Amino acid sequence: MDTKLVRAFTKICTDGYNQGWHERNGGNLSYRMKDEEVEEIKDQLNEEAEWLEIGTSVPDLKNEYFMVTGSGKYMRNIQLDFEDNVAIIRVNEDGTKYKIVYGLINGGRPTSELPTHLMNLEVLKHRDPEMRVVYHAHPANTIALTFVLPVNGVVFTREIFEIMTECPVVFPQGIGVVEWMVPGGREIGVKTAKIMETQNVAVWYHHGMFAAGHDFDEAFGLMHTVEKAAEILVKVRSMSNIKINTIEPQGFRDIAEAFNVSIDEKYLFERKTYEIGEKPE
Ligand code: 13P
Ligand code: ZN
Repeated sequence: MDTKLVRAFTKICTDGYNQGWHERNGGNLSYRMKDEEVEEIKDQLNEEAEWLEIGTSVPDLKNEYFMVTGSGKYMRNIQLDFEDNVAIIRVNEDGTKYKIVYGLINGGRPTSELPTHLMNLEVLKHRDPEMRVVYHAHPANTIALTFVLPVNGVVFTREIFEIMTECPVVFPQGIGVVEWMVPGGREIGVKTAKIMETQNVAVWYHHGMFAAGHDFDEAFGLMHTVEKAAEILVKVRSMSNIKINTIEPQGFRDIAEAFNVSIDEKYLFERKTYEIGEKPE
């Protein structure tokens, strides 16, 4: 299969691998297909495939088609053999089952994080019908921060916002966090989908990140921006536990005005500038 969608889906997998975010089979990707994209390949779909349990229910995604990476498949191999590593699935009439209508030609199942992907895509569809991509990766710096920052989305967001001026412009809604949990099931999906009701990025403690977007560029760009900021924060903390300069709350209010974005005041709490340690005076 060689469509514009297949090429775009493949590109983000390769780009993510090249960033070092996809060791072995780490990470996964899903995309809610447009009607015209399904129409384009309709004659290649096997609608006779068996129905399988999703493990959760996503009624507002009924009868829709999704392109998803396979469980245990390596992101770096998608460019070599799309049909072996990726599936197109269709959700059933009540949103509890799916069938593999294309791909995974050598067997296998969609990603083990399918419940999280579909629950997120459902919530995102409610927010904006054109939000179609959910991307999961294991970026090292973001994961490193989950060992030194409290399990608190407001604190996590403020630390990341402060470290790179573009952050509150790119994701003014901030970052949601999920405490360490066993991955791959409904429970972690419910927590992540709750975050996606209002935010586009969720950090799973000691595991990785989920980023959402209208398209692959947006989801990848969001993951990239958070991870870049995390890398800088790791460097700063590696040099010192004291910041002698930073962006102050009023600076964020000025950014919000200049870039016409809304930044929740909860992120702009007053604190000592040098908070990582104490103000040195
Ligand atoms: P899958 O290979 O099942 O997609 O799992 C990879 C992963 O990152 C789980 O969180
Ligand atoms: Zn993972």
